[in-house]
Amino acid sequence: MKVIIAKSYEEMSRLAAEEIAKVVNEKPNAVIGLATGGTPVGMYKELIDMYKEKKVDFSQVTSVNLDEYVGLSGDHNQSYRYFMNSNFFDHVNIRKDHTFVPNGLAKDINAEGAEYDKKIEALGGIDVQLVGIGSNGHIGFNEPGEELDLGTHLTNLTESTIEANARFFASKDEVPTQAVTMGLGGIMKAKKILLIANGAEKAEAINKVINGKITTQIPASMVQMHRDVVVVIDEAAASKLENLK
Ligand code: GLP
Repeated sequence: MKVIIAKSYEEMSRLAAEEIAKVVNEKPNAVIGLATGGTPVGMYKELIDMYKEKKVDFSQVTSVNLDEYVGLSGDHNQSYRYFMNSNFFDHVNIRKDHTFVPNGLAKDINAEGAEYDKKIEALGGIDVQLVGIGSNGHIGFNEPGEELDLGTHLTNLTESTIEANARFFASKDEVPTQAVTMGLGGIMKAKKILLIANGAEKAEAINKVINGKITTQIPASMVQMHRDVVVVIDEAAASKLENLK
């Protein structure tokens, strides 16, 4: 695991964008796994700037997103499809028909989740998977629990995740209580994992991911078993690190 501590959110965003651009520059038709949330917004801005400066080209890239809320259509302004279009896809030359986000309106979420995983395999797998982290240690929407799922599946959001995400909605009551998310198997199959985090509220979870035991109670701790992980965090998120591996 390679851990990079950035001086600021801006630096974290730039370093993360460079990691993604490196993969795309080495393999122009790369499959990039993307994530949403407050954390990657700056990284997408950096990638848009790099695209405008002709430092990266997305014309042959395919993207697959980690997760989506159940019950929100792609044009709902809090859906993750909407987030991806407005924060990234609309500003670069990726083909929209090469962008995939799990369908939160599917009748049978688990069946469509299995199709999503097959599609990823048919694409040749994910070259780099970006993940953020919840303050409770979730990745994608894989919440802490007794067990973790391998494939893309329907999941119930924990109270703490609903509360954390309420800031994006008019009220907490509007936050969906369920989501569809890539499972730990899907994330771990990616050839490379890029984990980003900023802010003190992530510091404890980050320390557990870097220094703690592997546990389903901190789903992100599983990435310790992956052979190519880059963690890019700002100083606040690094403030509780007991050790640097
Ligand atoms: C959200 C998303 C995750 C994200 C995490 C952190 O609920 N499902 O993919 O990484 O929680 O979000 P944020 O970056 O807004 O702190």
